[in-house]
Amino acid sequence: MIEVHNLNKRYGRHTAVKDISFEVGSGKIVGFLGPNGAGKTTTLRMLTGYLPPTSGSAQIAGYDMFRQSLKARRHIGYMPENVPLYDEMRVKEYIRYRAQLKGLRGKKLRSHVGEAMELCSLHEVRRKMIKTLSKGFRQRVGLADALVHKPDLLILDEPTNGLDPNQIRSIRKLIKRLGESHTVMVSTHILSEVEMTCDHVIIIDEGRIKATGSPSELVSQMRTAGKITVELKADATKASQALSQLANIKKVSLDSTDEGWSTLSILVDAHTDSRERIANLASEQNWPVRTLHRHTATLEEVFVELTRKD
Ligand SMILES: Nc1ncnc2c1ncn2[C@@H]1O[C@H](COP(=O)(O)OP(=O)(O)O)[C@@H](O)[C@H]1O
Ligand SMILES: [Mg+2]
Repeated sequence: MIEVHNLNKRYGRHTAVKDISFEVGSGKIVGFLGPNGAGKTTTLRMLTGYLPPTSGSAQIAGYDMFRQSLKARRHIGYMPENVPLYDEMRVKEYIRYRAQLKGLRGKKLRSHVGEAMELCSLHEVRRKMIKTLSKGFRQRVGLADALVHKPDLLILDEPTNGLDPNQIRSIRKLIKRLGESHTVMVSTHILSEVEMTCDHVIIIDEGRIKATGSPSELVSQMRTAGKITVELKADATKASQALSQLANIKKVSLDSTDEGWSTLSILVDAHTDSRERIANLASEQNWPVRTLHRHTATLEEVFVELTRKD
């Protein structure tokens, strides 16, 4: 659905997007994740034909975005970062107006407007002036506008930005629902958002792609795959030393002690699990164990790992 090859964007001397390439298959919800200033909006504006790239190419639904932009754009529903809405219009009137601008007429106009309003649950506010709507409803109006011409691809730039937690939950639910009938590319700087909504993640930082994969793949690709917590009754220093000698152990540190029990954090190499070795060592040494737990890395930790400057 989306194919991007070596896309670059320079603003004067500053390069906002550096040589990025990626593909997005049909029917996926893809998260485009990166901190503020990473180049998300710049990339999405190039993909939707609003900003010419300095170099590189992008295909949307098989059409070259820069040479066949009208055809490509017919397949895209775009919701920009700050949805520009006409405050003085009523909701339904506005969606109708936007649909007309996109070339819809007659029966098709009526049915498409109805379906977009239905999909975004706008029926109850259809006669309200846009200026009286909450931010959550304004985002729904923006979404209805983006999908009223029935594009197969939705490109949404930070759709939950500035919403309160309830509004975020409901927009997130709506995006999941839209993902059942559309390919969705959604940008965000909030990690947990991606973990909850997306099948695939593209991580961007300082204009470059740092990683791509499913949320669980990214977690498993981490260089420092995991941490094990063990709580045992032993001399903390002696136990730390012995544990450090085991295979695949990077680092052992003491978290706390409590009436003879020591809680140790053990950093292990990627793709290893040393729990069995730890249990065997404890049993050889006659150290009672009351916790032995392996933590799975969160996407948050992956992101820190991938975007840290070292
Ligand atoms: N019109 C512009 N002129 C100059 N620099 C810009 C312009 N738009 C964005 N930038 C710069 O490009 C970088 C990427 O911005 P942007 O794509 O908006 O990032 P994001 O959406 O990830 O926050 C930032 O450093 C930003 O300051
Ligand atoms: Mg942005």
